[in-house]
Formats: sequence, structure tokens, C-alpha cells
Amino acid sequence: MKYLVVGGAGYIGSHMVKHLLSDGHEVVVADTVATAPDIEWVELDIADARALDRLFADYHFDAVFHFASHIQVGESVSDPGKYYQNNVAATLTLLEAMVRADIKHLVFSSTAAVYGDPQYVPIDEQHPKAPINPYGRSKWMVEQILEDFDRAYGLKSVRLRYFNAAGADPEGLLGECHEPETHLIPLILQAASGRRAAVTVFGHDYDTPDGTCIRDYVHVADLASAHALAVEYLLQGGASASFNLGNGLGFSVQEVIDAARAVTGRPIQVIETSRREGDPATLVADAQRAKKVLGWQPRFAGLEEIVGHAWNWERKYPWR
Ligand SMILES: NC(=O)c1ccc[n+]([C@@H]2O[C@H](COP(=O)([O-])OP(=O)(O)OC[C@H]3O[C@@H](n4cnc5c(N)ncnc54)[C@H](O)[C@@H]3O)[C@@H](O)[C@H]2O)c1
Repeated sequence: MKYLVVGGAGYIGSHMVKHLLSDGHEVVVADTVATAPDIEWVELDIADARALDRLFADYHFDAVFHFASHIQVGESVSDPGKYYQNNVAATLTLLEAMVRADIKHLVFSSTAAVYGDPQYVPIDEQHPKAPINPYGRSKWMVEQILEDFDRAYGLKSVRLRYFNAAGADPEGLLGECHEPETHLIPLILQAASGRRAAVTVFGHDYDTPDGTCIRDYVHVADLASAHALAVEYLLQGGASASFNLGNGLGFSVQEVIDAARAVTGRPIQVIETSRREGDPATLVADAQRAKKVLGWQPRFAGLEEIVGHAWNWERKYPWR
């Protein structure tokens, strides 16, 4: 198959590209930033309809994987226009170009943030959608647009709602690199490697066994395998659908820090501070639907494995 991976230079997209190439598919990456030199890359902003039309005239794609978006929740609150422009308006431009080019299959990166404050855990796909920030709302808007595009134009999509993407390529070739970094595991490991002095923990008084927030960490290689199954499902005629992707096991912030101390053998300085607005105590996925319908089997559910792979990456790259 020939696939377009939009946002394929990023953290999750680059793992997806590696997975697809190792399965023998042809892959083109479209991103505003460059990817690895041995990967076919088109420098393209999905807000640019003409560039998309040129791309779709040059190549025939069987499906598109769409990872391109802004991803910082806090920034989405202070600058919502930026988020609605890129995550919603630019995505609409991509979808319209796909319709013009008669590309019928899309796998879209959605998020657990579409659910907002959990009314129950584990969270299944039926949970009410009540996002509490512009980032989550932008993803929920796109999910709704995708339903309309299916009805009107027959564009079939799988929306994958990731919980906390984590870990790194088990072979050590890829890993996480956000600027600025806002995700817990890389922040903790940067404190272990000395790239930052300490990691800040927001709130020790949650209604959880150790008082810190509980989150569901899903290994980035398992996200890639779920996307590969999702595209197969669509190409075999599957109906549009949304699936949670999480490992169903919650780990507290304190447990992640303990695992990082064990994996790295290093002391990790912690700064304890008060709760952050909008952080629920517990967010854990019910991912049974992805397992039943797509046949997804996460391989890396253990915290030490996830942290271990991320640590291999942290030790390996330029800041090393
Ligand atoms: N990282 C997580 O824990 C997490 C959780 C839930 C959902 N997601 C979603 O997964 C997707 C990928 O996340 P990530 O962590 O890999 O982010 P990332 O920032 O590492 O990658 C996103 C990539 O998209 C590109 N991009 C952004 N806007 C673009 C545009 N207009 N045109 C072309 N390229 C553009 C960026 O250059 C970047 O390479 C995002 O859609 C994000 O919302 C991530």
C-alpha cells in the first residue's frame, strides 16, 4: 500500500512511519519540518490547499494518517485561535483535498481530552464528550466533521483517542522530542539525565492511593500497531469508528518517578507544588473496543519497559 503520513516528522508519526516501512508499505511524509534523510518527505503545511492538490496529483495514496496538530493544552487556553486554525481549519483543508483526490480512508489522531472531566473510569468510547480546553475541543470538532464527511462524501475514518503516549522505539532509533516538553516521562528523565534540575509534581492531595494523579501511559510502538490495524480495518470496508488507545492500567505520578529512579539508578529531584487547574485525579482508558474490533494487543504495558525505552532515547541523543 502507499500511505501519506501527515505530521510524520513528529513523535508518534515517526514511529508510525517506521512501523509502516517495516511492514513493506510505501510511505510519504508531509510535514512542515524535515524527517530522517532516508524517508520520502514533502515539506508541506496542510493549510495549503494548492500544495495538497499538487501532492495528490503526483501520488496515489490508499490512505492518509493524520498526526499534524498543535498539542499543548496550556497554550490552547492562552492562544485558542492558533489551535482552531491549525487543528480544525487546516484539517478541513486536508479533508477537502482528500475528497477532491477521491482518497477515502483516514486514520486520525484524536485524544482522551475529548472526554473532559471523567464521569466514570475506566473511560469507554460512550463516555460523554465534554472537552474542557480548546485543544480537546479542536479534536472533538474534527471528529464531528469526519462524521459529516463520511455521510456526505463517503470518507471513512478511524479516530484513535490516545491517552498518554509514552516510551520510545524499542530499537532505540526514535523517541520523544517536543519543544517545549510538557509530558511527564521525558520531563522526569531529563531531570535524571541532568538536562533539567528537577521535575515539578502538581498536587499531592488527590483522591488516589498516594495522592498524585493517575494516568494511562500507552507505548508509542503500540500506538503505531493500532494505527496499522485501523487502516487495514478501513481498507477491508470497516465503518467509520472511534477507539480509545490506552493500556487500561493507571500509574500515579509517584509510581512513574519511582520507576524512573529504578530504571536510571539516578536520584531525581522533585519539586512539589499545588494542583494545576483542569487536572482530574484519574484518567484511565477502557480500550476493549480496539482489542475486540481491531484485534489490537499492546505489547508494552509495563511501566519499567515504557520508561526504559524512553531512557535509552534520552541517553542517546544530542543533549547526551
Ligand atoms: N503525545 C501524546 O501524548 C498525544 C496524546 C493524544 C493525542 N495526540 C495527538 O497525536 C498527534 C501527534 O502527536 P505528537 O506527540 O507526535 O506531536 P508532535 O508535535 O511531535 O508531532 C506533530 C507533527 O505535526 C507537524 N505539524 C503540525 N502542524 C502541521 C501542519 N499544519 N502541516 C504539516 N505538519 C504539521 C509538526 O511539525 C510535527 O512534526 C497530534 O495530533 C496529537 O494531538 C498526542
